[in-house]
Amino acid sequence: MELYRIEGGRPLGGSVVLPPAKNSVLPLLAASLLCGGPVLLRNVPRTADAETSLALLRVLGAGAEWTTEGVWVKSGEKLENQLPQELASAMRSSVFYLAPLLHRTGRVTMPLPGGCRLGPRLIDIHLDGLSRMGARLSWQQRTLTLAAPRRLCGVDYTLRMPSVGATESLMMAAALARGGTILRGVACEPEVADLAAFLNACGADIHGAGTPTIRVRGVEELGGTDFTPLPDRIIGATLVCAAAAAGGRVRLENGRMGDMRDSLTLLRRMGCAVFEDDGITVERDGILRPVGMVSTGAWPGFATDCAPLLAAALLTAGGESTIRDTLFEKRFACAAGFAAMGANVAVEGRQLTIRGVEKLRGARVKAPDLRGGAALILAALGAEGVTLVEDAGHIRRGYPSLEKVLCELGAAAKKNEAAEGAE
Ligand code: EPU
Repeated sequence: MELYRIEGGRPLGGSVVLPPAKNSVLPLLAASLLCGGPVLLRNVPRTADAETSLALLRVLGAGAEWTTEGVWVKSGEKLENQLPQELASAMRSSVFYLAPLLHRTGRVTMPLPGGCRLGPRLIDIHLDGLSRMGARLSWQQRTLTLAAPRRLCGVDYTLRMPSVGATESLMMAAALARGGTILRGVACEPEVADLAAFLNACGADIHGAGTPTIRVRGVEELGGTDFTPLPDRIIGATLVCAAAAAGGRVRLENGRMGDMRDSLTLLRRMGCAVFEDDGITVERDGILRPVGMVSTGAWPGFATDCAPLLAAALLTAGGESTIRDTLFEKRFACAAGFAAMGANVAVEGRQLTIRGVEKLRGARVKAPDLRGGAALILAALGAEGVTLVEDAGHIRRGYPSLEKVLCELGAAAKKNEAAEGAE
C-alpha cells in the first residue's frame, strides 16, 4: 500500500512544466489501434493508468513500448478482441477499446470497466451510439459483447448528455465508419479536441471538435503520426491549488489559460494573484476569501476533477463556501480526511460545505480516489505537523510522481510503502 508523508507549513515556490494530460493520453492510446502506421505519443508520463493501457495494448496483440521520446504503439496485423477482467476493471478508460476493436476485428468482449468510485458511471451512451452505428450488443452477466460483422455506418446522433468518454468513443467509431457522421450535444473539453487533432493527423476528417456538434467524414484507413498531447490542465490546477493551500507562488511554464480558466477564475475570486504570459503564475499571500456557492459543470464550466482540489484550498479561507458537483454523486469522499485534519466540512448529497478554520493539523487519513487523494495532500501542505495519506495508490493513476514535483517546489513530501512510512 502506498503512503504519502507530508510535513506541512512550508510555502511553495518554483516553476513546473506540465506533462501531457492523462485524460488525453488514455483515449489516444486506444485510438492508436485504429492506425495502420506506427504512432509516437511524445513525453507520456508513467501514470498507473498509462501503464495499464500499455499492458492492455500488448495483451490485445499491439506493440506498445516506452522510450525516451514517449510511447510507441504499433497496432498488430491480428488483434485479440477480449479484454481481460483484471485490466478492464483497473480503469474506466478500458471503454475506449470498444470502437477500435469493433473496427479492427468486428467484435469485442469486455467486462464492465473500473475506475474511481465516484458513484454510478454508466456507459449507456457509448453503447447506444455504437449500436446506432450498426453494432449488436449482448450481455453475459456483467460482461458485454459488441459485434459488427460489417463496417460501422455513419449516423446523425444526439448524445443524451455531453459525456466526455462517449464523445471520444463515437468520434473514434465515426473516423473509420462508412459515410458521414454528425454527433450533436457532445462534450467540448480540450481533450476531445486533442483526440480529433490526433485522428486528423492520422488522416481522419473531423470538424467541430471543441464545439457542441462534431462532423466526421469516414475514411478508409488511418496512418500513423508523431503527436504531443496537450498539457495536463488537472495537474496544473492541482499545483496552483497547492500554492493556494500552502501559500507561495507557482508557475506553470506551459499552462494554458484557455484550458484552466474555470479554476483560475475561482482562485482570483479567492484573492490569489494570477498572472498570464507564455505560462501561468499563481501567488497566494494572506488569508483567502470564500467563494460562496459554486457548481461544477461540463466544459466550459468548473471541472469536476478540480472540485476537491479547490476545496482543499478553501478549508482555511475566511468564511463559508459550498461546492456542488453536478456530474458525480460521490465526488467529496475526501471530506472525512479534511475533517480529520480539523476542517469544518459537511457533505450533503452532492454538495460540500466548508466553513473556513484558522488552521489545519496533520492527521492520518485515507485517499478515497484519485483527485480526493491529491486534495488531501494539498490540505496537508497547508496543515501544521505531519500528515500520512494512506491508500495513496489511487494518486499514481493520474500523477506520475506528485511527491517529487511538490519537493521541487519546496514542500516536504515523501512516498513510501506503508510499512516503512508508518509512524
Ligand atoms: N455518463 C452516463 N452515460 C455514459 C457516459 C457517462 O450516464 O455513457 C455519466 C457518468 O455516469 C457521469 C457523467 O456522465 O456521471 C460524466 O461522465 P463522462 O463520460 O463525461 O466522464 P468520463 O469520460 O467517464 C472523463 C474523465 C474524468 C472526468 C470526466 C468529467 C477520462 C479518462 N476521464 O471521464 O476524469 O472527471 O470526464 O470531466 O477522460 C479523473 O481524471 O480523475 C477523472 C475521473
